[in-house]
Amino acid sequence: MNIPIYDALRKYCQEKNALLHMPGHKGGLGFTLAEFQAIGALDFTEVPGLDDLHDPRGVLLEAQQLAAEAWGAEKSLFLVNGATSGIHSLLLAMGEGVRVILPRNAHRSFLGGLILSGGRPEFVECEIDPELGAALSVRPEKYRDKLESCSDIKGGFLVSPTYYGTVNEIKSITRMLGERGIPLMVDEAHGAHLAFHPDYPDSALREGAQAVVHGLHKTMPVLTQAGILHLAADFPWSARVQASHDLLTSTSPSYPLMASIDIGRAMMQEHGREMLEQAKARAERCRREINRIPGFNSRSHEFLEIDGVAGHDPLKVVVEITDLELDGYQLSHHLRMGYGIQVELAGENHILALFSPVNSEEDWDTLIFALQEISRQSAHHPRKRNIGPGLPAIPPLAITPRESFLSPHKTVMIKESKGMISAEMVAAYPPGIPCLIPGEIITAEVVDYLIYLKLRGIPVHGLRDRSLQRIQVVNI
Ligand SMILES: Cc1ncc(COP(=O)(O)O)c(C=O)c1O
Repeated sequence: MNIPIYDALRKYCQEKNALLHMPGHKGGLGFTLAEFQAIGALDFTEVPGLDDLHDPRGVLLEAQQLAAEAWGAEKSLFLVNGATSGIHSLLLAMGEGVRVILPRNAHRSFLGGLILSGGRPEFVECEIDPELGAALSVRPEKYRDKLESCSDIKGGFLVSPTYYGTVNEIKSITRMLGERGIPLMVDEAHGAHLAFHPDYPDSALREGAQAVVHGLHKTMPVLTQAGILHLAADFPWSARVQASHDLLTSTSPSYPLMASIDIGRAMMQEHGREMLEQAKARAERCRREINRIPGFNSRSHEFLEIDGVAGHDPLKVVVEITDLELDGYQLSHHLRMGYGIQVELAGENHILALFSPVNSEEDWDTLIFALQEISRQSAHHPRKRNIGPGLPAIPPLAITPRESFLSPHKTVMIKESKGMISAEMVAAYPPGIPCLIPGEIITAEVVDYLIYLKLRGIPVHGLRDRSLQRIQVVNI
């Protein structure tokens, strides 16, 4: 395997130098636990031979170039603070006051990026699947409408695949923006593996996106926090993105982390196709089996019937409960306590199991077996769907998220907050889509929605006041 970072780390280890430099654990020696000694053995820093992520000329440059080749980018930057830092770098590079189209289901790292940059979000609504209560796509027409109603858009973002594995119509959105000279940037945090097999949905870079962020640790065998920011040749702000990446990245990036990116990339290039082939076959069998179990249902290509969905990653196994007494949270609990299975998330009527090409056949079989048993042991009757109220219309933005963040704040009763400017991001689960972000005006519809959420006991994230009675607003 061509893995330059690991090779350089091994070589440095074999030299058996006296380690009179950082880090203080001295090649793992300072750790008392054997597992940490093993991790520490390759945890070095920018000594000669190991290059420097802030001015890469050696093994790190080579590894980043190998990554760019593997994913089909012009340039790739390693991220040691997750996909979050790639999203922050892109937004920061765009600069203050710049209008950017964002899907309303954007991950909260986008808010951080907007606070750093002073950018102005122009949100587009998502399609919410009524069964899951989750956002699975944005229709391309929403981007067209936004471009028509707003003349000075400088960039567009899209989240694809979603957490649930639905891939959006990237090509048509890229084309639509491209006709106006606007780049599309894709948060492909959950889709780094797609590029390695032709029968999986096409990757965003292949579909023409000009910048793509991967949260590698989510789907590939690499360490947690590892990510990559890929830039295409026609991406307009490469130099500024590089500068933002430098600004936001630690001056002591973890070498085990960066080596794991390189090893993960090499492994996917050498074995990814066959591993993904096998995983896809297992996923198809698993879904067939689940769809035979009374009380459960698992969709994959059926997601393509939803507007704006162009593909589905088969390794995201969504198990919906159709007619069992238990809900998704109870199912998740049973799987953990009774069968030793921990899934990624649970919702009102479903669970989401994330598989990677590395999961064994036994993992797939264990899930099937557990669901068969649970179905046998549970009472069966049709479940009532409880996906919560419809979201209020996206409120108008009075000031940017950055201005809201930096302003003085005060706490007011939600019922008296109409017309004030929010200083908090508030989202109910489901669907996990914010009804407010900092800088937006609290409308009467939002006030009613928040009061309704409290009355119904629907989980709400973002409000500092856990009793859901008060909200932080901008004090003007
Ligand atoms: C769609 C999406 N984008 C970005 C992120 C941020 O990724 P990370 O946690 O690697 O920083 C996440 C994290 O869950 C995510 O789901």
